[in-house]
Amino acid sequence: MNNITIEIKDGIYYLGVNDRETPRFENLWPLNNGVAYNAYLINDEKTALMDTVKITKSEGFLHNFRECIEGRDLDYMVLHHVEPDHAGAIQSLREIYPNVTLVGNKQTRKLLKVLYGMEDLNFLEVKQGSELDLGKRKLTFHLTPMCHWPESMVSYESTDKILFSQDIFGAFGALDGSIFDDEMDYDRIQSEMRRYYSNIIGKQTPMAQRALKKLADLDIEMICPVHGNVWRTHIHRIVDAYTRWAHYRTEPGVVLVYGTMYGSTESIADRLARYLVEEGVKTVKVYDASKTHPSYIINDIWKYNGLIIGSCTYNMDVLPVIQNLISLLGHYKIENHVFGYFSTYGWASGANKKLKAFAEETIFDVIDEKVDINGMPLDEDDDRLRLLAREMAARIHKEEE
Ligand code: FEO
Repeated sequence: MNNITIEIKDGIYYLGVNDRETPRFENLWPLNNGVAYNAYLINDEKTALMDTVKITKSEGFLHNFRECIEGRDLDYMVLHHVEPDHAGAIQSLREIYPNVTLVGNKQTRKLLKVLYGMEDLNFLEVKQGSELDLGKRKLTFHLTPMCHWPESMVSYESTDKILFSQDIFGAFGALDGSIFDDEMDYDRIQSEMRRYYSNIIGKQTPMAQRALKKLADLDIEMICPVHGNVWRTHIHRIVDAYTRWAHYRTEPGVVLVYGTMYGSTESIADRLARYLVEEGVKTVKVYDASKTHPSYIINDIWKYNGLIIGSCTYNMDVLPVIQNLISLLGHYKIENHVFGYFSTYGWASGANKKLKAFAEETIFDVIDEKVDINGMPLDEDDDRLRLLAREMAARIHKEEE
């Protein structure tokens, strides 16, 4: 049994499970530190379960759920988000509690049918601002479509001022014995939360902005997301950080990513990194795209305002790992970045054209300095690298002036 139950408020239980087995979230994003699937039970005059967990973890979850509900019937199952990592125990619970009412919105009902074949449901459809009375407590629903799926919604419990926030404020990482934010290292949580935000919700940033605006007036004393820890101490800090990410607010620094086969592009990246530092850039993060998964690189791109991508030429194109990165970046439509690029080739140029096309499609502030190096860099190539570094340093620090 890998899960724990904790009474986080009088009659409200944390029923989360840790998953350290699944290698990748959505079969795409590495879970090197695992991930937690969180559910919560409110034992009031009515009982309400807030979401469930992934099916592979449902047995332990159901065991602990039974302990916390203390033999009562389950009145409501609130489905804030029905991606399979939160929907794995819905059917089992329906069989155990045939009278349970599922609570969701119009899109929830559609997805339950399409994804899980669930029809003829005992279903309560809620809209923006709908309320659900549980006795001493009352839930108010706010629709937050595309944070992360179309049916995504949150609920606010006004007695204890709790926001059940589904994927919003969620993070990668299993909870290694700590449930609350004040029991964990804030920097680690923040980084894994930003990696979750940038890679999972980042594509829908305008919708995240809308959701945050909707929630801005709520008096929140606790945030209970479906991934990551429960927030009760650093609420303002994390809401501020999340708001920054959702508005593409960055800090000065350069992410320098390269794709190399035999090291010459890498040596140019190292040279460029040095020139950036000489130009006064305090943070330069250099990544080999063949070695580091793009989710970590994108996490840093979300944090810093400078980006340089370099690639060797491969089949008259960029190296496939660079292609993968620029394809992901193309989805995100990131704002507030200065972009530069460089390329290398042995006998025929190709990568430069591709990087230039990528630059033209972005809304980045592009540095128009062509650096396409044939073999080992000559003096004039080196001059261009220095110019690229100088221009990058000047532009990323411009807002500070
Ligand atoms: Fe946690 Fe969008 O699933």
